[in-house]
Amino acid sequence: MRTIVESPIFTRATEDKPGFSAIADDPALDRLPLPFPERTDGVGGFAQTTEIEVIRHYTRLSTLNYDIDRGLYPLGSCTMKHNPRLNEKVAADPAWRDAHPLWPSRWLSAHHRIMDELRRDLAEISGFDEVSLLPAAGAHGELTAVFMIRAYHLSRGRPDKDVFLIPDSAHGTNPASAAMAGFRCIQVKSGKDGTLRLADLEKHLDDRVAAIMITNPNTVGAYEPEFSAIADAVHRVGGLVYMDGANFNAIMGIFQPGKIGADIMHFNLHKTFTTPHGGGGPGSGPIGFNRSLAAFAPEAPSPEGIGPVKAYLGQWGMFIRAWTYIRSLGGVGLREVSEEAVINANYLRARLSGTLNLAFECPSLHEVVFTDRGLPNGVTTGDLGKRLIDHGFHPPTVYFPIHVQGALMIEPTETETKDELDRFIAALQAVVAEAASDPEKLKSAPHTTPVSRVDEVRAARTLDLRWMPVSE
Ligand SMILES: Cc1ncc(COP(=O)(O)O)c(C=O)c1O
Repeated sequence: MRTIVESPIFTRATEDKPGFSAIADDPALDRLPLPFPERTDGVGGFAQTTEIEVIRHYTRLSTLNYDIDRGLYPLGSCTMKHNPRLNEKVAADPAWRDAHPLWPSRWLSAHHRIMDELRRDLAEISGFDEVSLLPAAGAHGELTAVFMIRAYHLSRGRPDKDVFLIPDSAHGTNPASAAMAGFRCIQVKSGKDGTLRLADLEKHLDDRVAAIMITNPNTVGAYEPEFSAIADAVHRVGGLVYMDGANFNAIMGIFQPGKIGADIMHFNLHKTFTTPHGGGGPGSGPIGFNRSLAAFAPEAPSPEGIGPVKAYLGQWGMFIRAWTYIRSLGGVGLREVSEEAVINANYLRARLSGTLNLAFECPSLHEVVFTDRGLPNGVTTGDLGKRLIDHGFHPPTVYFPIHVQGALMIEPTETETKDELDRFIAALQAVVAEAASDPEKLKSAPHTTPVSRVDEVRAARTLDLRWMPVSE
């Protein structure tokens, strides 16, 4: 090799001083147990791709997705709020970030203290006596609670209590959790205004009832006005009351489920307490419960305890974020969160009521549900959602709750500004106007994404996530 610039860096790869380019020919490599990592299968190797190409490829890919950092994410019931960067900053401290379950316990004492404080905070906010942090998602919290309810009845010699009452507005995970633990689910119809009536429930209340699962505020975003009366009636037949706390964001500092008749409830830290969702998660679904259920908790030292539902510390990375969030806001701040979440949802409700039909007239808390009633030219809720993508927004939740025809459920959360809400309102109004003037535009939307309308049923049934190169 001819050396042009004479300096140690440029001369390192000369024949007398073998450099990086000579490594691949080093006979010492033949002695390695693994072959030199070079692809020979005809796909073409990474060696053919430059660093800038790889960076551009992945950066481009990252911009094809929609995320909360780019705009409103109005998925009702999911509480897709901003995750404060302060949480991330604290969680990134090596003392917390690098925590390993096999560290000596004395290195983890601060972590345990933080978890104890978080337990106490969640108990205080919800009004329950105790909290278990272990469950790793809302649905996991439900399942853990259902196992505890079963253990409770078994301990009282009541294996015959095998019925769970579940309203028609419930999230699908509620009956799924109850059924997984071997319970029979009976559906209870909501009243005309979207909430439960004790009078409609009474015919189901007998000795076999193990529990009722009520989401409050419910999945149409309404407070259940007869919650306490229903809880008393279920208690009278020896049943327990599970409150699905997925919508807790609407009630912090306003009412405590543990004080109005609920025996046990899950929180979604990845909703209310600003820890990341889904792929950015993992999730975390602690449960709060009253003293009467403490002996059956996952961490309970008693033989009746259901046993651990998650190994080691659980979702530690989420605990430190939620703990930071609670500390950065304090009680007054948390209450303001709920008040503003409710104000934002009601602002949307008021501004959109002339554009779409409300599913129910009952007052809204943190989210508002519209229906497809009155949409012209056969345009569906799904079409509205898809066309909103072209206007730069993630679609709201569609077709849930399932007892609402063509439901469109919008949850803005408290972290959105009025300007962003106004942009969203304008986009939705434009889409509904297009439903009258150019319905085909909606029926074939989205048009601005790399992949347009897909057959979602086929995609779900014949899921294929692998990319295979086409051989030449
Ligand atoms: C009302 C309700 N219950 C339960 C769940 C389940 O929570 P997770 O998704 O954390 O399992 C959800 C999730 O959206 C929900 O909205």
